[in-house]
Amino acid sequence: MSLAALLDSLPVPIIQAPMVGASLDALTLAVSRAGGLGTYAIATLSPAEIGPAIAAVKAVTTAPFGVNLLMAPKAEPDAAVVDAALARLAPWYAALGAPLPAAPNQFAQDFDAQLAAVVEAAPPMASFTFSILTPAQVDALHAAGTFVVGTATTVAEARAWAAVGADGICAQGFEAGGHRGHFLAETEASLVGTMALVATIRAAVELPVIAAGGIMDGRGVAAALALGASAAQMGTAFLLADEAVTSKPWRRAAETAGDDPTRLTRAFTGRHARGLENRFMREMKGVQDEVPAYPVQNRLTQPLRAAAAAAEDPEMLSLWAGQAVSLARPGAAGGLMRRWWAEAQQAAADLSARTAGRGRY
Ligand SMILES: Cc1cc2nc3c(=O)[nH]c(=O)nc-3n(C[C@H](O)[C@H](O)[C@H](O)COP(=O)(O)O)c2cc1C
Repeated sequence: MSLAALLDSLPVPIIQAPMVGASLDALTLAVSRAGGLGTYAIATLSPAEIGPAIAAVKAVTTAPFGVNLLMAPKAEPDAAVVDAALARLAPWYAALGAPLPAAPNQFAQDFDAQLAAVVEAAPPMASFTFSILTPAQVDALHAAGTFVVGTATTVAEARAWAAVGADGICAQGFEAGGHRGHFLAETEASLVGTMALVATIRAAVELPVIAAGGIMDGRGVAAALALGASAAQMGTAFLLADEAVTSKPWRRAAETAGDDPTRLTRAFTGRHARGLENRFMREMKGVQDEVPAYPVQNRLTQPLRAAAAAAEDPEMLSLWAGQAVSLARPGAAGGLMRRWWAEAQQAAADLSARTAGRGRY
């Protein structure tokens, strides 16, 4: 079976976006059981944890699911860089009454070891973000029976994934919540909206395209399919789901988000990401280009963000969310999925009636 056939066979062509910090296996399972495809965000799991985590999902469902890894570069920053970054963060830690952490000796999980664990555990699908696999790595996943999806923010990135043998492309538009997945050009040259990105990638590569960014309900799902996507990948729309692990202050901020509430920031992690604007983002804006690149800054702010979440302080917490967050609704994931798919079918029928009613031009 091809990935295209797998996506076509889904009762509901909705993929739950992997969301480090907001989604665990419970959301993945709920979405896969409801006829979509859940993606388990495993980027923060150690290589030793990955095998049992994937086996636990496989043990309780025969429905297809995916896992997602963030391809963090190896980081060996100079001690002076880390010290300067910590000094910049010191007032924020102090404001929360949290101790400034010591310089860590590891900044992210070892990607090669994580990948080896994924190959060994052989999930039905694996998606990758922040960089690109080698053809040999793709072959190893294929030999294990795992479909490979590469995240692309530009047509050039989609072509690159096609060239290494990926089975599908996740087209991540500018609207998307969380980190930008670009890896060929700098952020600014990689900010294409979902509508333009899906259509242009569809024209450029002969692979199924998964549309991501700003899809919040059935209208968005129908629009993604109309553009030629094989499925719609939704992240922010699941932030308020019962099975999501979105922290209390983050959930509250998402529930009460006003108009145009998100911005891109590099300040939390050293890589541009979209979230609800808060005090940390505003006050660090002037120095965000100076913070060390991901994963260093990400690691250095982790204890700060954990302390802010524990104190229920939304102002020093990364509140990742997409541009259309004000449309997020609470509820069980299965119920949300059923509602979105009914809306998508209705939207398609309405559109058909509206277009047919105009006759030929
Ligand atoms: C809270 C949050 C965490 C995310 N974490 C990941 C992740 O771990 N891996 C990944 O590839 N994408 C991640 N993303 C991006 C999503 O895969 C996807 O591109 C995005 O959610 C789609 O846009 P939307 O949020 O408007 O639905 C995350 C997004 C959010 C909102």
